Amino acid sequence: MATNFRRDKQKGLTVNTVNLMIKHQKRPFAERSRSDLSASTPLSERLNLKLSRLKSVAHKMTQKSPHTVWHPATITRADREKLHQHKSVIIWFTGLSGSGKSTLAHAVEEYLHKTGISTIVLDGDNVRHGLCSDLEFSDRDRIENIRRIGELAKLMAEAGVITLSAFISPFKADRDVARKLMLPGDFLEIYCQCPIETCEQRDVKGLYKKARAGEIPFFTGIDSPYEAPERPELVINTHELNLKESVNKVLNLLGQRGIIKSGP
Ligand code: ADX
Repeated sequence: MATNFRRDKQKGLTVNTVNLMIKHQKRPFAERSRSDLSASTPLSERLNLKLSRLKSVAHKMTQKSPHTVWHPATITRADREKLHQHKSVIIWFTGLSGSGKSTLAHAVEEYLHKTGISTIVLDGDNVRHGLCSDLEFSDRDRIENIRRIGELAKLMAEAGVITLSAFISPFKADRDVARKLMLPGDFLEIYCQCPIETCEQRDVKGLYKKARAGEIPFFTGIDSPYEAPERPELVINTHELNLKESVNKVLNLLGQRGIIKSGP
């Protein structure tokens, strides 16, 4: 699979998004497209239409009631950071299922915890057992999933905790919404880059096999797109580095950013 992620300005889509959809579909896209997209419409047009609809859904989801009034806190994030004796930050791992996000997030947490740092991992599969158990994997539900996680991660950072989130978070726009909830430097996006062939070979949960057999619809990288980050704070090639090397890269980043005293 091509790992060269380019932005096609004319089409307004990540070329890789289209590549993934074309290369990994079992049946022609038109057969599986939802009823609002006609089979005769060109692929780029259909995808653009779909993306603009999703943007409008995302906008509606972030509307708040006009009858709420913000209550200012007396204890601030800075107070909590002082109590914890370290800064808080959101470390946002993104990548395909099986790319190693959760494994890496938990391993980084383990190291930080041992050094006396307050942490929490927000993990896609786990959060979908509770807070997001009402959501499935349609584009709309994924947008809502990431919106909730962005808000939750923000609350955790406010609590003075280093927050490690491990979600596929396939859409760039949604990751950007989560980033914009925070001040610059408070959101570190880490792309766990791994070819889909490798993720599929690993198939730790047996989900790729099921998706290929048509048992799981809209599986990321197969018949649902993944948009790679364009300017993440860090890219980790999880198929080339071992876990310890990957952890060290994250810790070095935290050291450089002054979040922890130094790297590993
Ligand atoms: S996200 O797209 O909304 O960010 P999230 O990270 O919460 O996804 O959940 C992904 C996990 O759900 C995967 O690692 C996998 O175990 C499971 N899963 C179940 N169905 C799907 C699907 N259709 N596409 C991707 N992952 C799925």
